Amino acid sequence: MSQCEIIAIANQKGGVGKTTTTINLGYSLAEKGKRVLLVDCDPQSNLTMSFGVDRPDELPITLYHLMTAIIEEKELPLRKEYILSFNNLDILPCSIELAAIEVNLVNAMSREITLKAILDQFRPNYDYIIIDCMPSLGMLTINALAACDRILIPAAPQYLSAKGLELLLRNIIRVKRRINPAVEIDGILITMFTERTKLSKEIVNLINDSYGSHIKIFESKIPVSVKVGEAVLNYKSIIEFDPKGKVAVAYKNFAEEYKANE
Ligand SMILES: Nc1ncnc2c1ncn2[C@@H]1O[C@H](COP(=O)(O)OP(=O)(O)O)[C@@H](O)[C@H]1O
Ligand SMILES: [Mg+2]
Repeated sequence: MSQCEIIAIANQKGGVGKTTTTINLGYSLAEKGKRVLLVDCDPQSNLTMSFGVDRPDELPITLYHLMTAIIEEKELPLRKEYILSFNNLDILPCSIELAAIEVNLVNAMSREITLKAILDQFRPNYDYIIIDCMPSLGMLTINALAACDRILIPAAPQYLSAKGLELLLRNIIRVKRRINPAVEIDGILITMFTERTKLSKEIVNLINDSYGSHIKIFESKIPVSVKVGEAVLNYKSIIEFDPKGKVAVAYKNFAEEYKANE
């Protein structure tokens, strides 16, 4: 029997391709017959909305309610009451209400492992659970880092600062030391890459020089394409929307490289 892997897609910078990577890595793995659950852990609910849920706040049960149940030491509702399915991908949705959890967790006994308590219950049902993190290093992200087996860091060259990356790594090390000793960093996935610009190349060299020896930088890089925005407007992964396009091909190659890395 294959074991479930929980992957956190994390970077406290917004707009670096976390949600896009969650969707397309998830889609690629599901296409290969893997059972995949995507977890929306960003109160902005971009992941939930990208599957056509226009009003996440109207969903009766979301991640907020599940986390609240754990905090209050109650049973979780039945899975069919909140898991959304689109083709062969399952989604655990959230809404803006999830933002309140940051405060509610402060005095909770299980404040760092509330999400873990939920996701561990799903392990028997999936090969991969992918958590789309929010752009901050608050309690929700700490919960994601504590709940996962592996962390994938998408980074866009134009927004990449060595300082930002260092802050993220410091938080990961702290979580590893205190809460989740088995967690591993998968590596950095360069997104929104433009081959031609000098900046992209310089940044990649910079990361290689600073972190290359102890953090993997995936060979596959995700190029920039306007098609990504069009796919979002059509509620589709880029792999469905433009299967032969450069971004779809890059994500498929990345999924292969990612699996080979296991
Ligand atoms: N490879 C790409 N090329 C062009 N636009 C992209 C690409 N990847 C993501 N985007 C767009 O950039 C914005 C931010 O991406 P997103 O995945 O939402 O980042 P995050 O989740 O880190 O905030 C979105 O509008 C998305 O459609
Ligand atoms: Mg996002």
